[in-house]
Amino acid sequence: MKHHLISAADLTRDDAVLILDTAEELSRVAGRPIKKLPTLRGRTVVNLFFEDSTRTRISFEAAAKRLSADVINFSAKGSSVSKGESLKDTALTLEAMGADAVVIRHPDSGAPHRLATSGWIGGAVVNAGDGTHEHPTQALLDAFALRRRLAGGALGTDLTGRRVTIVGDILHSRVARSNVRLLTTLGAQVTVVAPPTLLPVGVDAWPCEVSYALDPVLPESDAVMMLRVQRERMNAAYFPTEREYARRYGLDADRMARMPGHAIVMHPGPMNRGMEITAEVADSPRCTAVEQVSGGVSVRMAVLYLLLGGTTGQPAPGQPTAGLEEATQGNRA
Ligand code: NCD
Repeated sequence: MKHHLISAADLTRDDAVLILDTAEELSRVAGRPIKKLPTLRGRTVVNLFFEDSTRTRISFEAAAKRLSADVINFSAKGSSVSKGESLKDTALTLEAMGADAVVIRHPDSGAPHRLATSGWIGGAVVNAGDGTHEHPTQALLDAFALRRRLAGGALGTDLTGRRVTIVGDILHSRVARSNVRLLTTLGAQVTVVAPPTLLPVGVDAWPCEVSYALDPVLPESDAVMMLRVQRERMNAAYFPTEREYARRYGLDADRMARMPGHAIVMHPGPMNRGMEITAEVADSPRCTAVEQVSGGVSVRMAVLYLLLGGTTGQPAPGQPTAGLEEATQGNRA
């Protein structure tokens, strides 16, 4: 695996399967009374958030803490960044504190890449969402939820032949970009569905199908991933009215009934209930939104563990938890 995780394109199929397998192993810890492993004791993980986040920030914090790392949370609000401090000066401060990993969310596409390639810091950089570019750990946790629901979480398996439909604001979605890359790397067939105004220029070159209509693709989907309409990134009118959008691209119970019986509904959160998804669908047992969040902690534990090597050494390919077993045994209550 590479030293940093900036894009889903950084991961080969084997890297991604190794992360999913490691996460599966680590998820056992979540069910124990004592949820902590000593694996990253003495290592420092900095969460550097320049943009609002609930799920992702808490998830990375929980993941690092469950591996016994020291965690420093840094949010742009209330820091010197709001006084105009540059990314470079912030990075130099983190380096001076000895950060082994920096988890960064930033409104500008490319900020994590800049941090990783600048030489300002020596630790591993993990992209927790940059502008409209990428959000690779979200795609990993989505793949984790997909593999669990559709294939029982079987170790070593990918998503070959699974059909995943991603619906909504593709234009502004880093979740869509990372998922198209990662899910195709894992063998899935992806279709993106959106009105033409919410599709990026160049989408034809993406490794997926494109459709302007939702209804025809529903019966052929194993999973339908609904995206939030990202108003905070919109500077113009992209569709006539909310009602019109919901009518054409929202998932309600009638549409869900057109999906195959085994098919699931996914959402990265935060959800706009009544817009891209009705409350009835969001609260149905077919919707994996909450599972995605809980699996996300295990997936981020796996990413930090594999990038930082842990105290037990880098696991060999095919042995995702070499060295972890001992640590998890000791924790058995
Ligand atoms: C997504 C994000 O921030 O890109 N959410 C998340 O990470 N859980 C999607 C969104 O904000 O709609």
